[in-house]
Amino acid sequence: MTPQEFPQLITAALAVLDYGQAPETLYDPLRYIMGLGGKRIRPQLTLFGAYLFTDDLGPAVKPALATEVFHNFTLLHDDLMDQAPLRRGQPTVHEKWNPNTAILSGDVMLVRAYELFLDLKPELLPAILRRFSQTAAEVCEGQQWDMNFETETTVSIAQYLDMIRLKTAVLLGFALELGARIAGAPEADAEHLRQFGTAIGVAFQLRDDLLDVYGDAATFGKRVGGDILSDKKTFLLLTAQAQASFTQQEILRQHIGQPVPDAEAKIAAVRAVYDELRIRAQTETLIETYFQAALQHLDRVAAPEARKAPLRHLTLQLMERES
Ligand code: IPE
Ligand code: IPE
Ligand code: MG
Ligand code: MG
Ligand code: MG
Repeated sequence: MTPQEFPQLITAALAVLDYGQAPETLYDPLRYIMGLGGKRIRPQLTLFGAYLFTDDLGPAVKPALATEVFHNFTLLHDDLMDQAPLRRGQPTVHEKWNPNTAILSGDVMLVRAYELFLDLKPELLPAILRRFSQTAAEVCEGQQWDMNFETETTVSIAQYLDMIRLKTAVLLGFALELGARIAGAPEADAEHLRQFGTAIGVAFQLRDDLLDVYGDAATFGKRVGGDILSDKKTFLLLTAQAQASFTQQEILRQHIGQPVPDAEAKIAAVRAVYDELRIRAQTETLIETYFQAALQHLDRVAAPEARKAPLRHLTLQLMERES
């Protein structure tokens, strides 16, 4: 099994999962969101975490799927909380069905994610479930900070970075660590992989925030400008607020935290300030900083260079992603 085959392996393993049948109004939305695809990054990272240390990827497959099912659960709830109309180029679950469906189908996905760990060796299970539970709680913490910050006016960049570490990055770190632990990697290596994944995850969310403003809607698959509309305190906005001239401050104040009579006008006005301040380039520089810091952790993992190279390649692609 080579890393090029990981996506196929994941697709095939997902295809035979039985999430449940009745009522269809509970399970159809689950199958819908899982069927919309996506990049399947987290399960790939788990397989990579194992591949660095073993040829026997079998025991890592179901736990890898657990990270993907958990991720998709967070998307159902996140889209409801963010009032997002589109996901992976299609209507979100709360739009296609209704908010209660997004809540309950999401809940059962969290349960199914837990079940996917149950075939782990008994000596590994408690430690891994403890790490997964900690990670899942941190995702909730980050998500709540994100919501709190929508209505706060004095969020610092440090607070923002910690928020995205929690809501997004820790799950990527966990996904890698998970694979490594299943493969019996030494503690130090599992820890470096976790830190590698977490740093990549921060860069990944920075890229997401950048694409939310500058992405192509057709490729990105989500509504472009959504973060501006909901007053998300992203690195882009916080940097713009810190660097704005008097006139630019005034434009931002007219739009952020104010009622929105014209959504497109708000998005265009805020984006114009970002353009003037070259916020895009500044965000790309910070992404590169996190990417380089991440690579230092990967360098310190005691695994064959030939096995690390495709992981480096995948993460480089993630840093440059458009979707
Ligand atoms: C979207 O995650 C949510 C974020 C953490 C930015 P992905 O960008 O991994 O979404 P899919 O699974 O590929 O659609
Ligand atoms: C991702 O943040 C948070 C999750 C843990 C799902 P976003 O709200 O930016 O994710 P997208 O852009 O909707 O995918
Ligand atoms: Mg969202
Ligand atoms: Mg969100
Ligand atoms: Mg986003």
